[in-house]
Amino acid sequence: MVKLTINGRKITAEEGTTILYAARDNNIYIPTLCENEAVAPYGACRLCLVEIKTAKGRERLVTSCIYQVEEGLAVQTDTERIQRIRKMLLELLLARCPESQVIKDLAEKVGVTKTRFVKQKGNNDCILCANCARTCEEVVGVAAISLARRGVDRELTTPFNEDFTEACIGCGSCAYSCPTGAITMEDKRGTRRIKWPHNKMEFKLKKCSVCGQYWAPEKQIEYIAKTSGTPLSDYDACPDCRE
Ligand code: SF4
Ligand code: FES
Repeated sequence: MVKLTINGRKITAEEGTTILYAARDNNIYIPTLCENEAVAPYGACRLCLVEIKTAKGRERLVTSCIYQVEEGLAVQTDTERIQRIRKMLLELLLARCPESQVIKDLAEKVGVTKTRFVKQKGNNDCILCANCARTCEEVVGVAAISLARRGVDRELTTPFNEDFTEACIGCGSCAYSCPTGAITMEDKRGTRRIKWPHNKMEFKLKKCSVCGQYWAPEKQIEYIAKTSGTPLSDYDACPDCRE
């Protein structure tokens, strides 16, 4: 176990734990937006910044969702400097995604209700955290979407920026992993519609042979059957109706 302090409080944490999780385990709040335990840490939003002083006396700012606990580390999560930076980051996020309710709520929590920066149009609530693309690749193993281009043109997209990607199986993991709700998914009358910030796609849903409910995209079922080496007929019935 590693001994450290957070806001002056002595705590212990398992080696390899991030400062963020050590803080959470001890009911110490650090704001986060892009943190997602299903995928490797990425550090996109920087809202989880904290100040640290190492046992050797080195002081710096680090993202707590990436930085791991160390013996003798002293962490401060809410100094004036941190508060100032967080406010600035939230103003920048508000300018990038002025319509995002998630960002508005986070900003309001630290007293930010408007932004000094020029409000951008067309980002459709996307903060470019890549949670969706990383979940698709790291968890589902598909890599149907990715962040493309650089600088101000950077955006989440499908290959060739089309409303169709052969690789996508319609599982919707991207929608679940998006912290701002920029990806939506709707199942209606046998069709699943997934809308990404700049693309959209439809998937035919499979009907259960027993109860008649639509339960999963046909492409997803084909993918599961193929990767697990099971016959497609095993999936004629939904999980609830299967023995
Ligand atoms: S769509 Fe959502 S999860 Fe994907 S990069 Fe944008 S904000 Fe992140
Ligand atoms: S939560 Fe740590 S960088 Fe976004």
